[in-house]
Amino acid sequence: MSALPGFVSGALHAKLENVSRTDLKARAQRMSDSYRGGGTSAVIRSDLDALAYAIVRMPATYAAVRAALAQTAQIVPDFGPRTLLDVGAGPGTATWAACDAWPSLERATLIDDNSHLLALAQAMQASLDISAQRSAMAAALPDAASADVVLTSYVLTELPDASLRATLDRLWDKAERLLVIVEPGTPNGFKRILACRDALIARGAQIVAPCSHEGRCPLADGPRWCHFSARVPRSRDHLLVKDANVPFEDEKFSYLVAGKGFPPLDRGRRILATPKVDKSAVTLTVCTPDVPEQRRVARGDKDAYRAAKRLDWGDAI
Ligand SMILES: C[S@@+](CC[C@H](N)C(=O)[O-])C[C@H]1O[C@@H](n2cnc3c(N)ncnc32)[C@H](O)[C@@H]1O
Repeated sequence: MSALPGFVSGALHAKLENVSRTDLKARAQRMSDSYRGGGTSAVIRSDLDALAYAIVRMPATYAAVRAALAQTAQIVPDFGPRTLLDVGAGPGTATWAACDAWPSLERATLIDDNSHLLALAQAMQASLDISAQRSAMAAALPDAASADVVLTSYVLTELPDASLRATLDRLWDKAERLLVIVEPGTPNGFKRILACRDALIARGAQIVAPCSHEGRCPLADGPRWCHFSARVPRSRDHLLVKDANVPFEDEKFSYLVAGKGFPPLDRGRRILATPKVDKSAVTLTVCTPDVPEQRRVARGDKDAYRAAKRLDWGDAI
């Protein structure tokens, strides 16, 4: 379970002082209704709207990015980036997750066209040098400095389909080593990830995660979609504003990490669903280049069974 880092939750807590929870709840509800109806974060039009976003959505998007980066770090454990470009950064969610995954980071540039969300990011005192640029990405990207890692989280879903390819090309051009894309774990989110995967492979990208190969995705035409799940602890204010009583939620996400200049990688095979454990075996749904495969590890095979019981959805074996 990945909770927001202390300096982020501390900054949010300070902003919440004297803010009516009833008002915050109404703003969060408006935002959820807009998202559910296919709307975008354009509905965030004030500092209080931005705070409502940070309370109800930021813990989940943080947990998703953090989980994707944990899976990435297992494939490239020696990679220690120094610079980051976070595009559609909002309150800096993906940047804070990257700081946690890669303490080597020294500098981050955050681009977003929403001044309220960007102001929230600037209120957080991170241990790295932050430069925030309020601009639409189409205008900012051509002149942005390239970075070891380019990250974009829950952003492509807000762009018109027609601009996806040009945006992706710009993001890839700015990435010195890795481009990380995180999207909602829905069939549509996966469709966008798949389109990005095809386009990036055509441009010579190495797929670092979650895939174990650059061949055709075995889920491209089937009924299932490649997505993962991150458990998110809910703060008291999160529970209050969302009118919830379960102290956690599960955020579903799809992601893609494309790399440049890495040696051949040992990527293993990704587990595509929660392992099924019963008295006789652990059954794993594993991605292979052809079809997702069911692998049964029988209880009789003691060491393998014990190891399989420790595995989770999203792990690579
Ligand atoms: C759902 S929020 C995600 C924020 C953050 N990346 C996260 O994961 O929590 C989408 C963000 O993308 C930004 N955005 C959308 N379209 C944009 C564009 N064309 N140029 C710059 N920022 C954009 C929005 O302002 C918003 O901050």
